Amino acid sequence: MGYRTLFFALSFILFAYYIYIPMPEGIDDRWKLAVIDAAIKIASNLAELTEAMGLMKYEEFLRSIMNLQLINPISDENLTVIDVDFRDIPVRLYLPKRTSERQRPAVIYFHGGGFVIGSCKMSSYDFLNRWTAMKLDAVVVGVDHRLAPKYPFPIAFEDSISVVKFFLQSTVLAKYKVDPARICVSGDSSGGTLAAAVSLMLQSDPEIKNKLKAQALISPGLQLIDSFMPSHQLYQHGPLLTRAVAAKLISRFVSEGKMLYQAIMKNQHMPEESRPLFKFVNWSTFLPEKYKKNHIYTEPILGKLNVSNPNFMDSRVSPLLATDAQLQKLQLTYLLTCEHDILRDDGLIYVARLRKVGVQVTHDHLENGYHGALSFATAPFNLNLALKIRDKYTSWLKNNL
Ligand SMILES: *[C@@H]1O[C@H](CO)[C@@H](O)[C@H](O)[C@H]1NC(C)=O
Ligand SMILES: *[C@@H]1O[C@H](CO)[C@@H](O)[C@H](O)[C@H]1NC(C)=O
Ligand SMILES: *[C@@H]1O[C@H](CO)[C@@H](O)[C@H](O)[C@H]1NC(C)=O
Repeated sequence: MGYRTLFFALSFILFAYYIYIPMPEGIDDRWKLAVIDAAIKIASNLAELTEAMGLMKYEEFLRSIMNLQLINPISDENLTVIDVDFRDIPVRLYLPKRTSERQRPAVIYFHGGGFVIGSCKMSSYDFLNRWTAMKLDAVVVGVDHRLAPKYPFPIAFEDSISVVKFFLQSTVLAKYKVDPARICVSGDSSGGTLAAAVSLMLQSDPEIKNKLKAQALISPGLQLIDSFMPSHQLYQHGPLLTRAVAAKLISRFVSEGKMLYQAIMKNQHMPEESRPLFKFVNWSTFLPEKYKKNHIYTEPILGKLNVSNPNFMDSRVSPLLATDAQLQKLQLTYLLTCEHDILRDDGLIYVARLRKVGVQVTHDHLENGYHGALSFATAPFNLNLALKIRDKYTSWLKNNL
């Protein structure tokens, strides 16, 4: 029996099993979501299997599936769409064709995928960025930072900052007729981490004179030091993003090693000296009562498993570790959280901390939403939630950028 037959048979059995995982009552796209969720769980199981058999690495298997969504740049009557490099980093540009008296706003978008998978060239992100360019008459830049584990932390951040700094040069802005006072960085999931980190770095960099006007963070990951917040517990099995897959992707980004993955799963991956940082992510202090429900805060268990990695304490992977003084310098912010999302509490805590220091934040919380819908915006998936998020995000941009 060939591997292909084996995998096919296995997928079939797993599908029959996973499809019975009940989706919460009232959740958006309930039935379609059940099918996509089962497919993702199967893909992750098969990826583990191919890795264990020495056929293909976990992330290579997942990428081979995600890459089915890659599309070429397609210009139309309204937009010129081209793939170019900014300082050797591939970007996809969406340039409105209509002649305009005024300079245009611009949006720089970072895709999700846990720093390990995904691309701005996936049809879902292409669809979102094209829509944004059309609706706002804006220049949009989709960014393809390099991916882990081949390019681990901090490369995704360095690539992202490098693209933004390149774009912010007066000569480049002039070339694309962009208004330096109307630039936003955006992203979803790990792309939201990148947008948040880039904002923190640039807004306090005295050498940057063209500051960012806005940041838009969609279901962002904002900290890696506590992996046992109420949302991690409630939604550990997904839908779409499970706690185990998130831990697997992150441990590949931060450093290779099975030990680290197991430590994150136990929430015992931080060293003793990280204790002072926990006040920045303390959900007992920052979560609104409504979300605490009957969860009981337990103090972190530190230094036990000896797998600690200094990268976790870096405010680029954990923007929530920024001090109040750093947060205070941040620009106008849009933040969207979904209820059924392990990263829900990261977003809720960021909203609370930003508001506390006086940063202007618009917060949308989708009660029936879940993580990762923006990667499933186009046929054959067409999740309604993806359109709902797209419309909320772009209408905020239209009114605020
Ligand atoms: C181009 O813009 C016009 C006016 O907004 C719109 O009606 C048309 O559908 C757009 N074309 C495409 C291909 O999106
Ligand atoms: C978290 O907050 C709770 C209540 O506000 C407090 O009792 C606890 O000591 C805090 N823990 C840390 C590590 O900051
Ligand atoms: C723990 O880490 C220290 C320093 O990195 C190392 O010397 C020691 O051998 C480790 N202990 C265990 C049990 O892995």
